[in-house]
Amino acid sequence: MSDKLTRKFLKQLDRKVWLKKVGIIGVGEYLPEKILTNAQLEKMVDTSDEWITTRTGIKERHLAAEGQAASDLAIKAAQQALANAKFKAEDIELIVVATITGDMSFPSTAAIVQNKLGAKKAVCFDISAACAGFIYGISVAQQFIACSTYKNALVIGVEVLSSITDWQDRNTCVLFGDGAGAAVLAEVAKGGIISTYLGCDGSKVDILNLPAGGSRHPATYATVENRQHFLKMQGNELFKIAVNTMTKAAEVVLKQAGLTFADIDLIIPHQANARIIMAVAKKLGIPEERVYLNIERCGNMSSASTVTALCEAVGEGKVKRGDIILLDAFGAGLVWGACIIEW
Ligand code: ACO
Repeated sequence: MSDKLTRKFLKQLDRKVWLKKVGIIGVGEYLPEKILTNAQLEKMVDTSDEWITTRTGIKERHLAAEGQAASDLAIKAAQQALANAKFKAEDIELIVVATITGDMSFPSTAAIVQNKLGAKKAVCFDISAACAGFIYGISVAQQFIACSTYKNALVIGVEVLSSITDWQDRNTCVLFGDGAGAAVLAEVAKGGIISTYLGCDGSKVDILNLPAGGSRHPATYATVENRQHFLKMQGNELFKIAVNTMTKAAEVVLKQAGLTFADIDLIIPHQANARIIMAVAKKLGIPEERVYLNIERCGNMSSASTVTALCEAVGEGKVKRGDIILLDAFGAGLVWGACIIEW
């Protein structure tokens, strides 16, 4: 081995020695009480239960009550995750909130959550990575804990997508729901996050976005009249990209971890469309029974999807200690993320 290679090897070895193993030690979720069924949507736009079910796998979705904002949902999920982890709010050192529908443009929803939780010493910020937000969040938190900057982190995925949904647009309004999921991360002796992989292709901003309300198109009478404060999506364009990107992300993260698909006990994907998820599973050769779905009851909750599905899978006993799970997500940006965890 050359001197240069030896130095590189020793550097990597050194990193491995001092980096801590990080795992999820508690999870929680909150879904608002109000439920909107496909039958109710049939009365709002020109659609049918049959179309929504066969094209997306969605039967119903939860919607936030009037006046309920992202932080209100986030707090409930966070409190459950903290109780599950047997952790006190005041001991949390970092709060990361993944959301595209925060309470306000600023300050961060994480700051609002910190105050409501009483997590006085936590450093707080939001992440905008749409449906891959939770995976981006745990990846960032993992780095801070692994390097001993912070001892622990609370990562929340939360959305009130109903606040940016155009209830007159049948192409989008049947797809989304509101909810929150949370995870407490800390050093673990065994297992934990084995590998993460994140990506972004900023050339496709136009096919999924919220056009107005930012500095490009600040709110005016015209932006409101033109319904530019509602989410716009070219769903058909995204479908194929989603399948290919999620498949590739899963392949990359597995390769990084030195594992094969046979090692995966459960895949917990972002819940955008049951057809996308099953196409990805088929391409990866993962049987249906090893794929977790909550889309039928929740729809697409963007940043909250993967973490609520994880929380439910754990609650239902579908994820047991020692299991290897794969999180895989894709969304507006376009962004994607995949993560392998030994539970
Ligand atoms: N009810 C009845 N008909 C409808 C509805 C509806 N709710 N919505 C669309 N249609 C019609 C369309 O108008 C179209 O009619 P036409 O053929 O007469 O023009 C027809 O159904 C087919 O439309 P498509 O868009 O081709 O339908 P598709 O099978 O692609 O399903 C869907 C649409 C569900 C949006 C799908 O494309 C999808 O899931 N795309 C990916 C979404 C995604 O992954 N987004 C990223 C994450 S979201 C985020 O980051 C916030």
